[in-house]
Amino acid sequence: MRLDKYISQVTDLSRKDVKRLLRSGCVTVDQAVSKDPALHISAEAQVAIDGELLQAPRPRYFMLHKPVGYVCVSKDRDHPSVLELLDEPNRDKLQIAGRLDIDTTGLVLITDDGKWNHAVTSPKRSCGKTYYVTLATDISPETADLFAQGVLLDGDLKPTLPASLQQVYSNEARLTISEGRYHQVKRMFAAVGNRVEELHRESVGAIVLDDSLEPGDYRELSASEIASVQL
Ligand code: URA
Repeated sequence: MRLDKYISQVTDLSRKDVKRLLRSGCVTVDQAVSKDPALHISAEAQVAIDGELLQAPRPRYFMLHKPVGYVCVSKDRDHPSVLELLDEPNRDKLQIAGRLDIDTTGLVLITDDGKWNHAVTSPKRSCGKTYYVTLATDISPETADLFAQGVLLDGDLKPTLPASLQQVYSNEARLTISEGRYHQVKRMFAAVGNRVEELHRESVGAIVLDDSLEPGDYRELSASEIASVQL
């Protein structure tokens, strides 16, 4: 990576400010002063400003318990973004790994690691997502089989991939899907003549929403939760 880009990423200074800093001669690379913004630096290079070593920022990974009323986009004119619930520096660098509707609650994963985000959301990786669903009317006996076979959603050309439905009460169930189509769970139940009244995401792959997190709370993911996503 170029020296100016590296310093700018680590310090959050603009490239213009970094060039000024370099010109002043206070930047060293492996103990030698460098004023060249285009200098190519290796991953092991020791870059220091005024003798203080720069630490490459660690990628960040969070789970958040999304409350109703928040949207899963970084900016919205009418509604607050889930990112506003995070008290973290450089919030603009964080991305939401998979969206929930404004009225859906539950697990949202947030990271600044683009590769990890892609692995969570890519339809090719088939990361199972489990939702607790409360329905307007009782679940008909054929629903689980229909979902296991795949249902054609209104406006789509292909049926959904096999999904697993476990009934909990007459009108409540856990549904695990491996895709992330627009309003998928609501549209799947609409396709079998029912209507979702409440939707709550419990897990994404092996990452389960922490019981101790109240709506609006978040925490960092553990190393094993991060590693559970296959890159
Ligand atoms: N499916 C939906 O219909 N809504 C969500 O928020 C998530 C999955």
